[in-house]
Amino acid sequence: MKLIDVDTLTQIISRTGLERFNLQLLQLLEQDFSHWEAFQKSPRHVTSYPHGVIELMPCANDEFYSFKYVNGHPANTREGKLCVVAMGLLAEVQHGYPLMLCEMTLLTALRTAATAALGAKYLARKNSRHLALIGTGAQAEFQAYAMLAQRPIQQISYFDIDPRAMDKFEKNMAASAVELVRCESVAEAVSSADIIVTATAAKQQVELFGIEQLKQGVHIHAMGGDCLGKTEFSLDVLQQCKVVVEYVPQSKVEGEIQQGNESLIHAELWEVITGKKSGRLNDHEMTFFDAVGFALEDFSILKLVYQLATEMNVGKDIDLIPQLDDAKDLFSLLKTER
Ligand SMILES: NC(=O)c1ccc[n+]([C@@H]2O[C@H](COP(=O)([O-])OP(=O)(O)OC[C@H]3O[C@@H](n4cnc5c(N)ncnc54)[C@H](O)[C@@H]3O)[C@@H](O)[C@H]2O)c1
Repeated sequence: MKLIDVDTLTQIISRTGLERFNLQLLQLLEQDFSHWEAFQKSPRHVTSYPHGVIELMPCANDEFYSFKYVNGHPANTREGKLCVVAMGLLAEVQHGYPLMLCEMTLLTALRTAATAALGAKYLARKNSRHLALIGTGAQAEFQAYAMLAQRPIQQISYFDIDPRAMDKFEKNMAASAVELVRCESVAEAVSSADIIVTATAAKQQVELFGIEQLKQGVHIHAMGGDCLGKTEFSLDVLQQCKVVVEYVPQSKVEGEIQQGNESLIHAELWEVITGKKSGRLNDHEMTFFDAVGFALEDFSILKLVYQLATEMNVGKDIDLIPQLDDAKDLFSLLKTER
């Protein structure tokens, strides 16, 4: 069984190249979402606290099984800790043996951004040139680069209540050719945007902006509201947009639509990808991807990392499964040699 720690994962990504890794991931995600019915799915298991959540996210097909442990603690950054940390496991289903234990903090940011790009591929206007980002914390650059690869973005306007988070974002985006516009308010950042990503963290119901502040034809990628009692919009915004979610049984509890009901949902993402339901139909409609993060996204990225780690022959072999001459003699492991 392989262990992929943070250092090994960064090596895998640097040897692959971030752009190529993201492209492969996007293709794999699209492929897995289009085989939606081949997966055994369930809403994630949530353990809730007043200050955060801890979640277990399983997903499987006839070949692999995966799960992720992940938290969401919005106040963590005040103590120098990440808001979201994660680790995951990939197993083969023939014998149920685990294949890989993997860091998933970075992988969560990468798969969340690839899912945002996949949503934008079907829901954002093709000529989207202006991206607005609300919340420039840990996920921000991943989201920005994924959108830059998907649409001809020339300008990113952004706002965060923490000026240091905006300084950090500017430093990390300096190498990109895109024009960076630092804003004084949410309203200033979103008013002429073609795509808006909301990635704020607060364990409460907030209203980042109203529909009247937006341009026609905007695509909103709402990812910060991702558990019960944690939302970024008023119901009014959803009521006026074409709303797409990942997986209704989970999204209706955790997404922005927890404030309303299922009748607000136009489609699940896989239905749009397979053409069962429409994506964007014209340049005027407003689209809204209520993305809470679904276990299939973790499944796809774990499979990709396992494939790359095997090809590169990297990752520590760890001894977590007993190796026995007689599979019925587990007790032999406890016999001390005389
Ligand atoms: N949907 C998914 O799949 C998914 C995946 C990962 C993270 N998330 C969620 O995305 C959010 C961001 O995650 P992160 O890891 O970047 O967190 P983070 O704590 O690193 O960053 C969040 C940023 O939002 C800013 N912020 C908070 N309230 C704001 C407001 N009203 N206006 C502007 N900025 C505000 C904070 O100052 C902070 O810089 C979290 O809520 C997290 O739970 C969702």
